[in-house]
Formats: sequence, structure tokens, C-alpha cells
Amino acid sequence: MVIKEAKFLMSNTRVEQCPTPNKPEYAFIGRSNVGKSSLINMLTEQKNLAKTSSSPGKTQLINHFLINDDWYLVDLPGYGYAKVSKGSREEWRKMINYYFQKRENLTCVFVLIDSRHEPLKQDLEFINHLGTLGLPFVVVFTKLDKQSATKTDSTIAAYARKLRETWDELPRFFQTSAEKHIGRDEILNFIEEVNEQ
Ligand code: GTP
Ligand code: MG
Repeated sequence: MVIKEAKFLMSNTRVEQCPTPNKPEYAFIGRSNVGKSSLINMLTEQKNLAKTSSSPGKTQLINHFLINDDWYLVDLPGYGYAKVSKGSREEWRKMINYYFQKRENLTCVFVLIDSRHEPLKQDLEFINHLGTLGLPFVVVFTKLDKQSATKTDSTIAAYARKLRETWDELPRFFQTSAEKHIGRDEILNFIEEVNEQ
């Protein structure tokens, strides 16, 4: 898919205030600092479309982007560690959960996982939670440029083993680096395929 246009629409805390749910929507989620906003910028080839930061907890709202006037891309706050109070973290958790449950045009959730780490309980729990909500999702391994291909392969194999404990069928996996532009075509082609279904 060619990205002809990518524009920021709005930031929200409430699903009711999100754009009219008349287009397919793809949401990016994962632990704070995993690289959600960077991946969105890489996919859209715009440096500062989504705000990034080396300090976890940068994205705090539900951010909608409109791509090619045809589908929505959503940048969500990260779960897990963030330099914010427990109270705000709990608020975000509720906001995201409500969004997942109520957003009727949500087509697929992209769960981002840092390819440098062995399977984390928090990520596995989150994936299983999406499963119980019945939401379609894929897993995106990020920051491939930070380590060897062997290390990436071993992380991915470990995740596959863990997920097989719960799932009969594994979700689709993508490998990416926002830094080195790895995985862009694969993700955009996937979205195009799903949009055409
Ligand atoms: P929150 O909004 O805080 O939840 O974080 P996020 O998941 O949106 O992460 P963000 O895109 O802001 O990136 C966090 C940090 O990781 C930044 O310093 C990025 O430059 C860095 N980063 C993101 N993706 C990559 C990547 O593919 N490779 C490398 N080397 N660094 C990356
Ligand atoms: Mg972010």
C-alpha cells in the first residue's frame, strides 16, 4: 500500500468523542517505550506525526490519525511502567479497556513487543486479555536493530512457545525496526489485505 496522506485528527480520553466509526481502525498498543509512536511515524514516513520520547509514558491519550482518507490508525498510551502516578495509570487502563470494548470499527489490534526481552508476564497477560475480549490482533516485535538476528529469533521462538500454551493457533507475527525501516511493507500490505476483505 502506498501512503498518500496521513494526518492527525484528534486526541481523546472517551470513545464517544472519537471520530465517526465509519472506517476500519487499527490500534497500536504495548508497554511504554516499546516504540508504538515511532512505528506509526515509520509507517507513514512522517518524522513527527506521533509524538515520541525516550522517557516512557509519552503518549497519554487515544490519538487518531486518518490514512489515505480510508482508514484510521490509533496511537494508544503504553501499559506497564510509566513515569506517572498509580492513579493516572489506573485511569489509562480503564480508558483503554473501554476503548477496546466499545470501539465498534476496531478491526485489528497491533500488540508491540520489544524483541530484546524474553517473554514478559505483562505482555502475555495483555495478549490473553485481548483474546478474552474476542478482538483480532497481531504481534509486532520492535527494535530489531538493537540486537543480532539470532537474539531476535530466540525471543520470537520463546513467545511462540508461551502463546501455544494458551492458543491453538498463533497470531500473525511481524518483525520491525523503526530506526532501520524494517517491516514497513509487510505491515502495510497486511492492512491493505484486511481493508479489502
Ligand atoms: P509511550 O508513548 O511512552 O508509551 O512510548 P512508545 O511505545 O510510543 O515509544 P516511542 O515510539 O516514543 O519510542 C521510545 C524510544 O524508543 C524512543 O527513544 C525511540 O527513539 C526508541 N525507538 C523506537 N523504535 C525504535 C527502533 O526500532 N529502534 C531503535 N533503536 N530505537 C527505537
Ligand atoms: Mg507513544
